[in-house]
Amino acid sequence: MSRQIRFNAFEMNCVAHQSPGLWRYPGDQAWRYKDLEYWQDIARIAERGLFDSVFIADVLGTYDVFGGSDVAAIRQGAQVPVNDPLQLAVAGAAVTEHVGFGITAGTAFEHPVPFARRLSTLDHLTRGRVGWNVVTGYLPSAARNLGQADQLAHDARYDHADEYLEVVYKLLEGSWEDDAVVRDAETGVFADPAKVHHIGHHGKHFDVPGIHLSEPSPQRTPVIFQAGASPRGVRFAAENAEAIFIGGPTKQIAKETVRRIRRALVDAGRGPYDAKIYLLSTIITDETAQGAAAKHRDLLSYASVEGTAVFFSGWLGIDLSAYDLDEPLGNVKSNAIQSALAAFQGENERGEAWTVRDIVKLGGIGGQGQNFVGSPAQIADTLIDLVEETDIDGFNLAYATTPGTFEDVVDLVVPELQARGVYQEEYTPGTLRSRLSGNGDRLPETHRGARYRVGGPGSTIDDVTGTGMPAPAAPRAAQTAPSQAPLAHTASAGQETP
Ligand SMILES: Cc1cc2nc3c(=O)[nH]c(=O)nc-3n(C[C@H](O)[C@H](O)[C@H](O)COP(=O)(O)O)c2cc1C
Repeated sequence: MSRQIRFNAFEMNCVAHQSPGLWRYPGDQAWRYKDLEYWQDIARIAERGLFDSVFIADVLGTYDVFGGSDVAAIRQGAQVPVNDPLQLAVAGAAVTEHVGFGITAGTAFEHPVPFARRLSTLDHLTRGRVGWNVVTGYLPSAARNLGQADQLAHDARYDHADEYLEVVYKLLEGSWEDDAVVRDAETGVFADPAKVHHIGHHGKHFDVPGIHLSEPSPQRTPVIFQAGASPRGVRFAAENAEAIFIGGPTKQIAKETVRRIRRALVDAGRGPYDAKIYLLSTIITDETAQGAAAKHRDLLSYASVEGTAVFFSGWLGIDLSAYDLDEPLGNVKSNAIQSALAAFQGENERGEAWTVRDIVKLGGIGGQGQNFVGSPAQIADTLIDLVEETDIDGFNLAYATTPGTFEDVVDLVVPELQARGVYQEEYTPGTLRSRLSGNGDRLPETHRGARYRVGGPGSTIDDVTGTGMPAPAAPRAAQTAPSQAPLAHTASAGQETP
């Protein structure tokens, strides 16, 4: 196999991310999620393992679908309490040089203008090591807490996200030209106003006439991550994503999802491999197969059935407390994660309908992803086989215990993969995008976001008037002349500023 296998560490700023109950496991350090040092340790471990990124999930609501209340979620620490993910990138970047940070943020509730500034800030402070996992949400509790009766319908959430991204692309790609900041001490001009464009966005959901507040960062638009695999989700991913995370509870489901995504990328005018696809998985390994099996049994004994049912009720949008354990989900519909619901209404590995018991058993460790248990050599065989069979690029690694699961992968599996020539030996220096695409720091021309570059093909941004109308050439030129801006202009060095 020539393709190099890639890893991300899948994390969240809380105590029980994908493996509820495991926070009780002796030595587990999930409780340190409130400590800066914990996040710096995770970043260092991921960098030691040459991972692409630490990918940090987030939700803005509680999992209150199970039993119709948030009581069980709170009791279990099931993604609540949960702290903000963005600051973690700065903490991790301060102690590492290469590893990226994928930050999850939803499009439903925060206005794109302040959010775009936060993205630019992160990209500056990490020197271009940030990705943004664009999510449209699935928890109705989030919508209710933010002043809405319910979340939008599933596909309408993606339509809304389309415009949200349009605003973000316009701000990040189309407002400041690369050479807008001149920092000319002689003339006292810090930035050339003619090279800073009002985006003039007037859409269905947002009106943003003005400029982006930050100057261009190394990547401008952070690497776009996405994780929705419904038909509408795949279309959204194909138009925007550069890294795509899939659930895939069986090899067959993963293979089919990857096939749909690669085809959709081509339909969107991009190459089939223009986005890296990572399969959610948890690796339980030890020096020997017996050791790994014993570790898995031990870990499973700490998994919480109630916590798992809480998570799946939220992801599927179906209250599992209303089911018998041996009942299949049946032909139900929901407004939550459509690809997960479709997967569990199909067949399990035995070719039978998934029952609630099967779902809870699969999900006790690592959520909707599979657990791979074995010696480093066995794990390497499994991963290589999955990459060859399903056409994925790598794995989004959830943890059973933290940082133990990640350390086992880094210390045992990575060397085995390197020995087989299927894992990088060192980082290529540069931004996260340049490492993933091998093709520069900025969005490629074929990407949707490139359309919104100043002067880019089809760009509507050529405006310094703030009206959304193209500015005539003369006033633009006039704005460059310092004499036209007497109040803001600080004149030459040594002169007093008024
Ligand atoms: C690996 C993975 C990670 C995800 N992380 C988040 C997350 O952190 N926050 C969130 O709101 N949704 C998350 N999702 C949900 C997706 O972003 C998306 O909303 C969901 O898959 C619905 O998409 P679909 O209905 O198009 O399949 C994740 C999904 C997957 C598979």
